[in-house]
Amino acid sequence: MPRILGIETSCDETSASVIDGVADPVAVRSLVILSQDAHAVFGGVVPEIASRVHLTSIVPVVERALAQAATAPAELDAVAVTYAPGLVGALLVGVSYAKALAFTIGRPLVAVHHLEGHLFATALEHADAVPPFTALLVSGGHTMLLDVAEWGDYRLLGRTRDDAAGEAFDKVAKLLGLPYPGGRHVERLAATGDPTRFRFTRPMLRSTQRLGDPDYFDVSFSGIKTAVLQTVERAQAPAGSDIRADIARGFQDAVIETLVEKTVRAAAAYGRQRIVLGGGVACNRALAEAMRGRAVALGAAVYAPSPRLATDNAAMVARAGLFHFLRGERADLDLDAYASVPIPGLRAA
Ligand code: KG4
Ligand code: ZN
Repeated sequence: MPRILGIETSCDETSASVIDGVADPVAVRSLVILSQDAHAVFGGVVPEIASRVHLTSIVPVVERALAQAATAPAELDAVAVTYAPGLVGALLVGVSYAKALAFTIGRPLVAVHHLEGHLFATALEHADAVPPFTALLVSGGHTMLLDVAEWGDYRLLGRTRDDAAGEAFDKVAKLLGLPYPGGRHVERLAATGDPTRFRFTRPMLRSTQRLGDPDYFDVSFSGIKTAVLQTVERAQAPAGSDIRADIARGFQDAVIETLVEKTVRAAAAYGRQRIVLGGGVACNRALAEAMRGRAVALGAAVYAPSPRLATDNAAMVARAGLFHFLRGERADLDLDAYASVPIPGLRAA
């Protein structure tokens, strides 16, 4: 049974994980995640700081993941690493370390696309979160709606025209005076907000849209963000006042309604019985609940990862790496890091 070490350093989490298995669900023997809190004071990730913290953390993080998995480096069958997309300087730390380790132990190196990792995350804990399914990938940097006929075969149905869903949460959090990253703070505040006080615009969401229209599956969040900004400015000094909870609620409801409607459209159009959520915004319980509420009518089940596996982690990288390893795919030792490349196996609708 192959045993894979996964390494993830694409943004501000330094993570390593050891998994083994051949099919879902695989056994996660260890998962270590070091979340860099050095960025909070800046209100966003500072690339230079991220690279430096990865550099000082990568060795102890990998060593701890191996120790927790009671695994010696020589017992690994492959080293899987995120090579794209992300901050190049951050990615390079993981890629360089993975190359050196793979070379030293004489085992193959497997290159993993970060977003493919997010697609595999939910399968780590839900045996049924496997293809065929409709996937909604919502992270800080990406928002994609995919039809997944099988692992490795990804049909891109829709994407954001501007901000990613997580980015919208983070920007609204900032407007409301909440810490970075703001998604979970907005969710907590929204839970106490009045859903009827603010109704923000739902761009790209109209009942007259039909399959084949260019905006049938696409989403857009910059308009909602601007509407929130104007509301905050009109309210004057919203920080600390009750109105923040109502604004958070109005914002979250607008984002969730848009994401749920588009995802349900995709599941219906492709006749899928499963909907899999991935990426940091998949931590949002109101999103998963609203998705379940709408999916019932289709007879579709909704799978969301637990927060530890929804946000950036190396177990998902190891799992995606296992898939490519079993297909005989190997990366050369001149593997590079890339800020942006399409998911392997991605095709247009
Ligand atoms: O996937 P991820 O860890 O990193 C990227 O690959 O971008 O996602 C991070 C994003 C952040 O924008 C964060 O605010 C958002 O996920 N997020 C949430 C929640 N928890 C994290 N957004 C909404 N509700 C949450 N509970
Ligand atoms: Zn991510």
